[in-house]
Amino acid sequence: MSVRRLDPVQPTAPFKFNAENAAWAKKTIAQYPAGKQASAVIALLWRAQEQNEGWVSRPVMEYIGDMLSMAFIRVYEIATFYSMFQLSPVGKKAHIQVCGTTPCMLRGAEDLKKVCQRKIHNDPHHLNADGSLSWEEVECLGACVNAPMVQVWKDTYEDLTPASFEKLIDDLAAGRAVKPGPQIDRQHSMAFGGATALTDKSLYSKQRTFTRVEAPPPPPPAAPTAAAPAPVAAPVVAAVAAPANAPVISRVAKVETTPAKAAPVKKAAPAAKPAAAGPELLKKPRTGSKADDLKLIWGVGPAFEKLLNKVGIWHFDQIASWNAADIKHVDALLKGFHGRIARDEWVKQAKKLSRGWRPENSIGDKPGKK
Ligand code: FES
Repeated sequence: MSVRRLDPVQPTAPFKFNAENAAWAKKTIAQYPAGKQASAVIALLWRAQEQNEGWVSRPVMEYIGDMLSMAFIRVYEIATFYSMFQLSPVGKKAHIQVCGTTPCMLRGAEDLKKVCQRKIHNDPHHLNADGSLSWEEVECLGACVNAPMVQVWKDTYEDLTPASFEKLIDDLAAGRAVKPGPQIDRQHSMAFGGATALTDKSLYSKQRTFTRVEAPPPPPPAAPTAAAPAPVAAPVVAAVAAPANAPVISRVAKVETTPAKAAPVKKAAPAAKPAAAGPELLKKPRTGSKADDLKLIWGVGPAFEKLLNKVGIWHFDQIASWNAADIKHVDALLKGFHGRIARDEWVKQAKKLSRGWRPENSIGDKPGKK
């Protein structure tokens, strides 16, 4: 990067915006809050550079400084910092900025510079013989993916080779129309040779629709066996004490199928969960149903799903029924993952999933979202 200084030869005549630019400047400055007009300095310098044949002279900077009530040194600082501002006269047809930063350098920027030296001038910031072209090396211009590249005024020309760059310079010098962007057969910055991902055309078809997956109906209650006592209306959940050294499974749901001589059951299981019962934890998925895909809960991955199964959680409706005490209980079982349940709103997500919601119902939605 070269040192950026004001040109030693400066015009003696003062600079002034033409009528159109003066009206534009007035409108632009008015867009800023009172006392912040200096924020318009870059926009005004750029406009002045366009009017002043592509460069900002000292009279230009001082005119802008006066207009914005800025100390001249502040305007000099800005103009000498940004390579978008030219501090010396440039080619009338094109001033070519060649990116020389690493990605462009690795892909041939040095060869592009040699083309400039051969076709324009050996040294940057010098005009060619008829004053129509000039060039310089600049730092990254933000089109690295299409390296190597150059910028001319507001346009970039990318994926250049020495041959295509020579043609570009010839076209600019001759005043022929040139096409900005990649100079090879690729669209914008897509991969060489075409897209390699998301190539399924139906993804972009308005025909593509999603079908809502309804939750399967709950299984019918098991018919009482001949040996079972008639009054038992529903599967009975019996508490089973966990071994002292394996506190993970705290309560196991079990369908009572013992004959009448087993301990008599006086009442059907209460619909409401007793406050002290704790969350329902199962050794395996309920009889007749498969484990739910707990990975559908946002934040639960395969490893987390295994852990949940290990502590006795297999179904969305188990999670959907948790109260604050249950969450605390399960949180303690999920060592190392404290707070996940509340933070990721598992209960809310599980309620939605147990009602039949599935991610494919709504792209970008997650079960916790209403
Ligand atoms: S390195 Fe050349 S555009 Fe970024």
